[in-house]
Amino acid sequence: MSAFEHISVMREEVVHYMAPRDGEVYVDGTLGGAGYSLALLAQARCRVYGIDRDPQAIAHAQTLHDGLISVRGRFGDVRELVPGPVNGFMLDLGVSSVQIDTPERGFSFRFDGPLDMRMNPDEQTETAADIVNTYDEKPLADLIYKYGEERKSRHIAAAIVKKRAESRFETTFQLAELIRQVVKVSPKDKLDPSTRTFQALRIAVNDELGELERALQASLYILKPGGRLVVVSFHSLEDSIVKAFLREQSGQMPAASRYAPVGVNENRVRLFDAPDKKAVFPSEAEARRNPRARSARLRWAVRTDVPVDDLKI
Ligand SMILES: C[S@@+](CC[C@H](N)C(=O)[O-])C[C@H]1O[C@@H](n2cnc3c(N)ncnc32)[C@H](O)[C@@H]1O
Repeated sequence: MSAFEHISVMREEVVHYMAPRDGEVYVDGTLGGAGYSLALLAQARCRVYGIDRDPQAIAHAQTLHDGLISVRGRFGDVRELVPGPVNGFMLDLGVSSVQIDTPERGFSFRFDGPLDMRMNPDEQTETAADIVNTYDEKPLADLIYKYGEERKSRHIAAAIVKKRAESRFETTFQLAELIRQVVKVSPKDKLDPSTRTFQALRIAVNDELGELERALQASLYILKPGGRLVVVSFHSLEDSIVKAFLREQSGQMPAASRYAPVGVNENRVRLFDAPDKKAVFPSEAEARRNPRARSARLRWAVRTDVPVDDLKI
């Protein structure tokens, strides 16, 4: 077993809300270093299907535990990947520390590497370099604004288009250096000026928000009555999708989110019970210990016994 250096965020809370029991079956949609999966397996004699699109996470999980079945794929395809129905489905969104801290994966402006950012490097899909080198200025600016919530998106896109006329962007450092020239920061600023643009590219390359919406829809079908959905998200774009989904599916007014999936469960039938209207946050001790935990928010809900097939979805 190779080392997989990722510290799980809100692991105790996830186990608490998943409430695993002997003989039951769970899906960990974001296996990563298997922190959540192993925590469930330590708590009950259950089985866990661990999905990850990253071959490195799958390779690491191969021999970790007899009750852990690793499955390579995207969690948005969970219905095709896992024999359902199951007792719980959990997601810990975003990238693992292993992905961020491996320069060759190209996720981080802190290391020089190819501008890639694909969570599954075997997929023949767009890389961050493809986006930066080929998108027209307006769609590029829109992408940086929408997924990075970057106010300087237009300036950044204009500078990228100008620069790439001289030479293509190949590396993380080339892009980070350009952004530093465009976005001037005061010494008080805690964030590197590249943070938001890199986030935007990562979300686009991996269709992260589309995957999340598909997984939430799939949860309606794969969870048994009483089955638990637990989602840990790390920024407001993700959290507002989860929040809007749970509001809608628990029969409350749909949230006015620009990311809310439209036209789903129009008759407001209660497909989930969402006891906590508010998100659950990590403890202060965890936030102190692990800076990655500071932006984490957990939402959870319990599937009711209303069958989806009866609905116009
Ligand atoms: C934050 S890490 C999960 C860490 C894990 N909970 C742990 O405790 O070790 C997120 C993982 O989800 C994977 N991932 C992200 N989006 C995915 C998707 N759409 N389908 C499958 N895996 C995905 C990433 O490759 C990464 O390994």
